[in-house]
Amino acid sequence: MNILLLGPQGSGKGTQAKKISATYGIPHISSGDLYREAIARGTELGKQVEPILAAGELVPDEITIPLIRDRLSRGDTTPGFVLDGYPRNLAQADALDEMLEDVGRTIEIVFVFYVPDRQQLVERLHKRAHEENRPDDTPEVIQRRLETYERETAPLGEHYRTRLGNVVGIHADRSVQDVFQEISEALSAVEARA
Ligand code: AP5
Ligand code: MG
Repeated sequence: MNILLLGPQGSGKGTQAKKISATYGIPHISSGDLYREAIARGTELGKQVEPILAAGELVPDEITIPLIRDRLSRGDTTPGFVLDGYPRNLAQADALDEMLEDVGRTIEIVFVFYVPDRQQLVERLHKRAHEENRPDDTPEVIQRRLETYERETAPLGEHYRTRLGNVVGIHADRSVQDVFQEISEALSAVEARA
């Protein structure tokens, strides 16, 4: 099953992607995690993107699109994947369509996570700042990331709604377990149709 998660910073994409990955046995592909791994390993890529992530800006598409193309071409994605943090703008979404078309696959379901109260997102990220020490979980950088999401990424919900149809809105302001329950029900419906 090929699954895409869209939602603002702190809405729980990574949290839910891990649960989906464990339950359905498909890889969790997070562009942010790939970048953080490269930074931790001190690779050329890591050195290049480290200041960009720290500033909460988007890594240029010329770097991100090939990174995801490479990752999706690995054999472990054959039974499916859960994509988290990609695409983040229209150019990335178009590139994803092309990558999948080349191998005769499509996105089967898109989940759009909604947390109407921005303060709730900010609080979750402040809490994570203490737990995980992510350099981009500072008050100023959180604001910049959320603004970029609204401007560049949020419109993708509508993009997939018109192109794909199978877009499921999720009330992501509830408990981790409640959110996962709703996702699981939608995924069971997709499996039943397959
Ligand atoms: P990325 O790693 O994708 O981070 P992000 O978009 O900033 O999103 P977050 O990871 O902050 O949010 P999440 O929804 O995953 O929340 P989580 O589950 O952790 O990107 C980082 C950077 O990499 C970007 O800024 C950019 O520089 C670069 N990048 C990545 N992809 C790119 C791309 N495609 N193009 C260009 N650049 C790219 O949850 C947050 C916290 O809340 C956790 O502590 C969690 O425990 C808690 N929580 C989760 N769910 C709940 C719940 N239901 N109730 C209470 N607490 C909850
Ligand atoms: Mg995440």
